[in-house]
Amino acid sequence: MELELAHKTVIVTGGGSNIGRGISLAFARERVNLVIADIDEQQAGKTGAKAREAGAAETLVVKTDVSNWEQVQAMVRKTVDTFGRVDVLVNNVGWTVDRLFVEKPREEWEKEVQLNLWGMINCTRAVLDDMIAHKRGAIVSIGSDAGRMGEFREGVYAACKAGVIALSKTLAREVGKHGVRLNVVCPGTTMPSSAEDIGQTSMWAGSFLKGWNTPEMRERIARVYPLRRIGQPEDVAKAVVFLASDAASFVTGQTLSVSGGYTMM
Ligand SMILES: NC(=O)c1ccc[n+]([C@@H]2O[C@H](COP(=O)([O-])OP(=O)(O)OC[C@H]3O[C@@H](n4cnc5c(N)ncnc54)[C@H](O)[C@@H]3O)[C@@H](O)[C@H]2O)c1
Repeated sequence: MELELAHKTVIVTGGGSNIGRGISLAFARERVNLVIADIDEQQAGKTGAKAREAGAAETLVVKTDVSNWEQVQAMVRKTVDTFGRVDVLVNNVGWTVDRLFVEKPREEWEKEVQLNLWGMINCTRAVLDDMIAHKRGAIVSIGSDAGRMGEFREGVYAACKAGVIALSKTLAREVGKHGVRLNVVCPGTTMPSSAEDIGQTSMWAGSFLKGWNTPEMRERIARVYPLRRIGQPEDVAKAVVFLASDAASFVTGQTLSVSGGYTMM
């Protein structure tokens, strides 16, 4: 299959950890110019080094808080100044803490809205002018099955991910005539396999120390998935790379669950 991604410019937000790292490395293997926009510059730098080893044409790490509009605009400007344009944006940053709605402090809801929804709105808005001007672009956002069907202890997070899906569909209708496509990939549970794969700002920070990211816990979680395993960053990355590529040039406004059959719709 011809993906035609070599030397395209790809921004991955939250590329420093776990799924974002897997997505970054999958694009690196396609020899793209890779921009890793992450609030954790050190962890993003580690991904950048791995991406160069994996074959990225060029890599650029830009420390960015995706919830901050000025920082997002500056990150996109730096990308365009360095590589001339933006071909692909992957909105990967997301965050949640599982807790029942009535037990959750307001600060957690606010962080969920900022990182899952405002981050996606900011980054998407910031790249659209360039993509429309070039009559071409692909935006892949990372959703969640929680946003498709609701999930215990993930109320506001689910609402934000449903928002990511709805905004992607709306924009797919609005900007399709300019050659810009938007799609969403929804991972299932995808736990980092080593502490090295996450930084302090990852939602998994401390999970190894707290002792619940264990083989036994993974096995227990795997039982609710028809395919009887939890996800790996590479599972999600393959779907993202496909949707970003010319192989998916007639696919827009779609939501694809990569979650071992957890959600079927
Ligand atoms: N891992 C899962 O089980 C799972 C399941 C369903 C959906 N998802 C979604 O997949 C995506 C990635 O999940 P993950 O487990 O890899 O997350 P993660 O928490 O491990 O990594 C998130 C990355 O985003 C960065 N980040 C955090 N706040 C930021 C900010 N304000 N600005 C820029 N960067 C910031 C972190 O530094 C980190 O590198 C998220 O959107 C998440 O909601 C994950």
